[in-house]
Formats: sequence, C-alpha cells, structure tokens
Amino acid sequence: MDDLLVVTQNLGKIREMSSICAPLALRALPISILNKTVSWQEEGSTFRENALTKLNAVQGLWAGASLSDDSGLVVPKLGGEPGVYSSRYAGEGSSDKANFEKLLHEMRELKAGDRDAFFVTCLAYRAHLDAKVQFFYGCLTGRIACAPEGQGGFGYDPIFLVDGYQQTLAALPESEKNKISHRSRAMQKLKKFLIKNLLKK
Ligand code: IMP
Repeated sequence: MDDLLVVTQNLGKIREMSSICAPLALRALPISILNKTVSWQEEGSTFRENALTKLNAVQGLWAGASLSDDSGLVVPKLGGEPGVYSSRYAGEGSSDKANFEKLLHEMRELKAGDRDAFFVTCLAYRAHLDAKVQFFYGCLTGRIACAPEGQGGFGYDPIFLVDGYQQTLAALPESEKNKISHRSRAMQKLKKFLIKNLLKK
C-alpha cells in the first residue's frame, strides 16, 4: 500500500480522503505523521495559489505523494468576496457566525436575483518530489439566503441555499452534503486521475 500525505490537520478531510483512497490501495496520512512543525502563510490571491503554497510546505519533508486543498465561498455581485478570505472575512480568528453575519450585512441591499454564490475547492496533487503538480476543481452553485437556517455543517452552510434544494446546506443531512459538495466533486476528479495513473504503473 502506498502513502498519500494530505497537508491538513483536519481529521474530517483525512476521513473523506481515506474513503476515496482505500479502493486504490493508497493510505491517506495527516501531516502530524511528519513529527515536524509544518507552517505556511495563506497569502495567495487565488485558491490555486494557496493550495500550491500548502503543498510546497511539505516539499523536502516528504518524498512521496502529497495532496493539499483550499476552499471558499464566492459571491460574484461582491466582486468575488469573501473568496480566499472566507475563513477570516470578519477579521483574523473570526468565528463562522461572525463571518456569515458580515456577509449577510454586506448583501443586505441585494435582491433575490443578485444573490448567486458558489463554493469552490482546488486540490493540488504531486505524485512524487519531481512530478508536475496537478490541480482539480470542484464547484457547488447556489445563492445566499437572507437569514441563517439549519443546525448542521460549518462555515457559511447556514446561509447557503443549494441549487435544486429548498434548504440551506446546514439543513441537509451530512451524507447528502458530502455527496454534492465542492470538495467531493474535486475529489471525484482526483479519483479518476489516480485510477488512470495508478493503473499505468
Ligand atoms: P478550507 O480551505 O477548506 O479550510 O476552507 C476555508 C473557509 O471556506 C472555511 O473556513 C469556511 O469559512 C469556508 N468553507 C469551505 N468549505 C465550506 C463548506 O463546505 N461549507 C461552508 N463553508 C465552507
């Protein structure tokens, strides 16, 4: 079984990756297995730049396959905000609630037709030290509600109404969210790539 280092401390992401990797004889490992402090600055202006920064943070510490991701919410009518600032929209260290309340405030004048939004995930994957980095994107479209609804999920889920559903992401069962999420869509693309390339080995 080969190992895949996932540049995250988030065990939820490791769980998600493990279920995709297991049938491919790949084991997803968190960066804690390196026993070193791995740090990076998320200063990029795109999700792709940030995903690459995270991937490069383990270069020199790990010679095998590695994977990183960066996600966020984009509101076209706000010029792409909160975008790469999604986790700190209301300021460094701000809570999920403070972030989505700031977004509701910024959008208070926008009518129903102007409230479109989408989540994006960018995955960056490198098969080994000298390999070219591959990027995979996943997207989930919807619109921003006028008030929060639902108890599940995290981040902007309580205010994100998913296209094709009458509920926010926070009101959907977790299993349903995981099937349609931007992250899962990007991971399905990575999975196809891995299947094709691991079969060639
Ligand atoms: P990360 O790159 O996955 O850590 O995501 C950065 C930020 O984007 C999170 O802190 C959330 O604010 C937001 N975000 C990303 N994915 C989701 C999601 O599935 N639901 C709600 N918010 C999300």
